[in-house]
Amino acid sequence: MSNTTNSGKSLNAVVILAAGMGTRMKSNQPKVLHSVLGLSLVEHVLGAVAPLDAQNTVAVVGHGRSLVEAKIQNSHPAVISAFQEQQNGTGHALAVALEALPDLDSGLVLVMAADTPLLTTQVLSSLIAVAQDAAASVLTAELIDPTGYGRIIRNLAGDLDQIVEQSDATAEQHKVSEVNSGVYVFDGALIRDALARVGNANAQGEQYLTDVIGILRGDGHTVRALVTSEENILGVNDRRQLAQAGQVLRSRIVEQWMLDGVTMIDPGSVWIDSSVTLHPDVTLLQNVQLTGTTVVHPGAVVGPDCSLHNTVVEKSAKVVRTVADSAHIGEEASVGPFTYLRPGTILGKKAKAGGFVEMKNAELGEGAKVPHLSYVGDAEIGEGTNIGAATIFVNYDGEKKHRTTIGKHARIGSDTMLIAPVTVGDGAYTAAGSVITEDVPAGAIGVGRSRQRNILDWVLRRRPGTSSAQAAVADSSMTNTK
Ligand code: UD1
Ligand code: CA
Repeated sequence: MSNTTNSGKSLNAVVILAAGMGTRMKSNQPKVLHSVLGLSLVEHVLGAVAPLDAQNTVAVVGHGRSLVEAKIQNSHPAVISAFQEQQNGTGHALAVALEALPDLDSGLVLVMAADTPLLTTQVLSSLIAVAQDAAASVLTAELIDPTGYGRIIRNLAGDLDQIVEQSDATAEQHKVSEVNSGVYVFDGALIRDALARVGNANAQGEQYLTDVIGILRGDGHTVRALVTSEENILGVNDRRQLAQAGQVLRSRIVEQWMLDGVTMIDPGSVWIDSSVTLHPDVTLLQNVQLTGTTVVHPGAVVGPDCSLHNTVVEKSAKVVRTVADSAHIGEEASVGPFTYLRPGTILGKKAKAGGFVEMKNAELGEGAKVPHLSYVGDAEIGEGTNIGAATIFVNYDGEKKHRTTIGKHARIGSDTMLIAPVTVGDGAYTAAGSVITEDVPAGAIGVGRSRQRNILDWVLRRRPGTSSAQAAVADSSMTNTK
């Protein structure tokens, strides 16, 4: 359903221009597919226009067409794509889009580029409000350095007269600091005819969409400019601007989360994708990256130095210096430092994965602990079980992966090798240093190591005169064995 704004004219269509080469990115990838904060540039723009509820949204694609279309279809399947075979300019691009929109006579058309990821729904809505009684409205900004942008040329009365591109501007016009953001709202009944009159007699030999402004003014129509902040209109043309846009988006996101009840002691070092969910009373310490579908529940403390991707952190859990991907960290669980949780790791309530522990496709029951230096792959570990330091779940026979099952309240001795497939029963123990190749029944201890023997005086005979031999001779217990 179309959204009818206060004063009447509805938003008939949104057109996103995304066919350009993006030459200045120096990339094999189409510019609009470069991402910041987990979303490509084109997805940021589609996300900002979606709540405007236009009847139709058209993306003009060209360079890297199939890749761009696939990305758009994946996240915004209702968007129609229009193919601009040759990139003859922004005016030509809009003309291609209008072919896919035969019925435009009532309502407004919002046109914008796909390379301006900082424009918000709110700013776009204000432009639509301004556009209600105008033939065209342009979003502009005052820049300290306007180089590269089209300049906004106003008449003596201060009204917008025309837009002049950098490469066509006179020395006098270059001094104008107000620039075109590349976002416009047009009256659907007038745009087609005005666009048909755009030529290409300019420095770049292109059909400039910006010429439509002068044409509509020449016809005596009302044209408006709405000024917004420099930050909002940043266009990404090269990788410096991509990084700049990332910084702005990053700080907007962390500020919103702080307003929503998340504590951050160093917000400048925190990166949170727009797809992440946080809850009030979460604390994020220094250098935290939360990406994908990560969710952090109340009372949890994450950081310092964590990268969590598609990971759930339940209430009051603590996660320190950890890398996690597709893991589930239970309530009051504790993880880190220097811990690597790979896909399929599930930690129960109050479970612990401690220092230098790597886990993959493994479930740790309530209160179970892997405190130190272990690899836990393809395993199920029951509640209250303790895994001794340096235990290895030997899950790979060189061809296939196998599972290990350990019951409740078991005690796995330090440096145990559990050769999967193998099962250790409830309440069972393994002796430190064991290689466990057979199941250990409930309540038993599995001992899988050879008995120790001491060969007396070996050092004196085989390493005579060494510092070891001297130390041994000086030792009183050594003397006793003589
Ligand atoms: C354009 C504006 C300029 C404005 C600036 C704001 C024109 C002529 N100039 O310049 O006034 O200050 O944006 O960022 O419009 N595109 C197509 N097909 C084409 C050409 C471009 O789809 O044939 C798309 C590009 O993919 C891009 C957008 O249109 O998303 C803008 O094109 P770009 O070449 O970046 O224009 P600018 O030189 O930045
Ligand atoms: Ca641009």
